[in-house]
Amino acid sequence: MSSLSSPSSPPSLPTVDDIRALHLKYAPTPEAFELVHTHCRVVAELAERMRAEAAPEADAEWVRAGALLHDIGVYELFDADGRFRMGEYVRHGVIGHEILRREGFPERLCRFCSCHTGVGITRDDIRRQGLPLPEADYVATTTEEQLVMYADKFHTKSDPPAFLTAETYAAGLARMFGPEKTAGFEALRDRFGEPDVAGCAARYGHVLR
Ligand SMILES: [Fe+2]
Repeated sequence: MSSLSSPSSPPSLPTVDDIRALHLKYAPTPEAFELVHTHCRVVAELAERMRAEAAPEADAEWVRAGALLHDIGVYELFDADGRFRMGEYVRHGVIGHEILRREGFPERLCRFCSCHTGVGITRDDIRRQGLPLPEADYVATTTEEQLVMYADKFHTKSDPPAFLTAETYAAGLARMFGPEKTAGFEALRDRFGEPDVAGCAARYGHVLR
C-alpha cells in the first residue's frame, strides 16, 4: 500500500485506488459495489467539506480513508438475492473492523468501521436492546471518527439511495435507538454544521428525504 499525499500520514494509509480495489475484492455483485462504494464516496465528500469548514485541525487523509472504508463490512451482509440481511445490519461495523484488521491495517483505521453506527453504540445499548454485538463501546472519539460517523447520517443505501436532511435522520434515530440518542446528534450538528444535502442530491441524481 502506498501512502496518500500528506507527509504527516503514515505509510500504512491506503490510497483511493487501493480502497476501490478492496471494495471490489469484497463486493458480492457489481450492484453491491456500486451501491456501497458510491455511498462511501458521498460520505467522504460530505465529511471533507465539514472538516474544511468546521474542523480544519482534523487530518484530511484519515477522514478520507476512514470515510471510504467505513462500510466495507456491509458486503458480508448481502443475501443471495442481493438484499441486505437487515436483522444483522447492526453488525456491519464490527465486520468491517475485522476485515480491515485481517487486511493488516492499523486499529486507528479499523475503528472508522466499528464506531460509525448510529451516533455510537455503548455497552449499555447492547445490553438493554439485546444487540447481536460483542459487549463493548463502539463510539467515535477522535474528530476524524466523529466527522465520518456524522457525515454518514446524511446519506442512506436504501433502494433507491437517498440523501437525508438532519430532521429526517433525527426522527429515524429516535425511533431506532431511542430519543436519548438525538442529543448526541444535535451536539454534532452544532459542532460540524449541516452539509448541503439538496445540492449533493441533485448532483448525484439521488432523492432527498
Ligand atoms: Fe455508511
